[in-house]
Amino acid sequence: MEVLITGGMGYIGSHTCVEMIEAGMTPIIIDNLCNAKAEVLNRIEQITGVKPLFLQGDIRDEAFLDSLFAAHDIHSVIHFAGLKAVGESVAKPLEYYDNNVNGSLVLARAMRKAGVKRLVFSSSATVYGDPQQVPITESSPVGETTNPYGTSKFMVEQCLTDLVHAEPDWSVTLLRYFNPVGAHPSGLMGEDPQGIPNNLMPFIAQVAVGRREKLAVFGDDYSTKDGTGVRDYIHVMDLASGHIAALKGVGEKAGLHVFNLGTGQGSSVLEMVQAFSQACGKPVAYEICPRRPGDIAECWASTEKAERELGWKATRSVAEMAADTWRWQSNNPQGY
Ligand code: NAD
Ligand code: WQD
Repeated sequence: MEVLITGGMGYIGSHTCVEMIEAGMTPIIIDNLCNAKAEVLNRIEQITGVKPLFLQGDIRDEAFLDSLFAAHDIHSVIHFAGLKAVGESVAKPLEYYDNNVNGSLVLARAMRKAGVKRLVFSSSATVYGDPQQVPITESSPVGETTNPYGTSKFMVEQCLTDLVHAEPDWSVTLLRYFNPVGAHPSGLMGEDPQGIPNNLMPFIAQVAVGRREKLAVFGDDYSTKDGTGVRDYIHVMDLASGHIAALKGVGEKAGLHVFNLGTGQGSSVLEMVQAFSQACGKPVAYEICPRRPGDIAECWASTEKAERELGWKATRSVAEMAADTWRWQSNNPQGY
């Protein structure tokens, strides 16, 4: 079964490709490499023994997509491609809306022309904004987003929802990821942010490997278990298997399907620092700093719907997330 993976050279897409190949599927990757390295393809081959077809190109290039759909018998599409840095999205809103919203519309239009109407979209817990209560269920309010990145995800969700209303033969699955972390257990693949990492786990990993001096902990005065921010960290391999479960569970069913992909457990910043120190066998230097503007206190997923309807549940612990990240980071100190 040929599945088109947009953004398949990126962090989550590459791990999902490995999981797909191991499940007997055939990913075809398109990526413009704006945030990924070509070396990823070799790593996928080292792990699986299979080098997937990779075409470098942009999801906003409709002619490129048309020729791709004409040349291959694509069964469904998993759409990872997008820009994802919150701070950058505040500085460059037009670029974010063009890439994430316009890019998704061009993709959906090309799919319709080709008669491919099964789409899984990488959405985010960011669409819930600052949640009124935790755990967050799929019917919690969405749309009160706090930055252009989050708004772009919400807009694409809305466009695809309206598309399914208008054309009920589509199958659209919105997967709302919580905080993806970790790496492939081989240590061959992981997250490779360019420049200063925006996210907690890659920052901790770069402190541990000596690339940065210390972690700034953004606030210890939240009303959480230890005052630091609490999030639902999910191992990227669990996230990858969630995509297979979605393709198999609802990927053939017409309509709109929405699932949280998280663990249902919240961990604080200091708990993540502690878990990482244990994994790497040394303390991770940190300093308590002011809150980061726009941050929420805590957020974790209700995982019941995915368990019930997809038979999928995350199984990997925070200790495994830290150990796998450390294996990747220590074997590849400068990334790919
Ligand atoms: P990533 O940046 O590692 O991967 C995205 C890939 O898309 C990159 O390889 C990039 O080169 C490619 N890309 C971007 N714009 C493109 C375009 N116009 N045409 C072709 N390729 C393009 O990010 P990731 O962490 O793997 O995230 C994948 C998806 O999941 C994104 O849509 C992101 O918004 C979403 N998401 C990520 C997180 C997270 O914390 N990592 C959380 C929730 C949702
Ligand atoms: C986690 C916790 C920080 C860095 C972001 C996006 C969200 C989604 C996932 C894509 C918070 C604290 C962080 C640091 C710190 N992405 N922290 N020092 O903010 O939950 O979510 O990534 O969809 O849209 O907003 O993740 O990893 O940045 O932060 O203390 O250097 O770590 O305050 O409590 P976040 P994060």
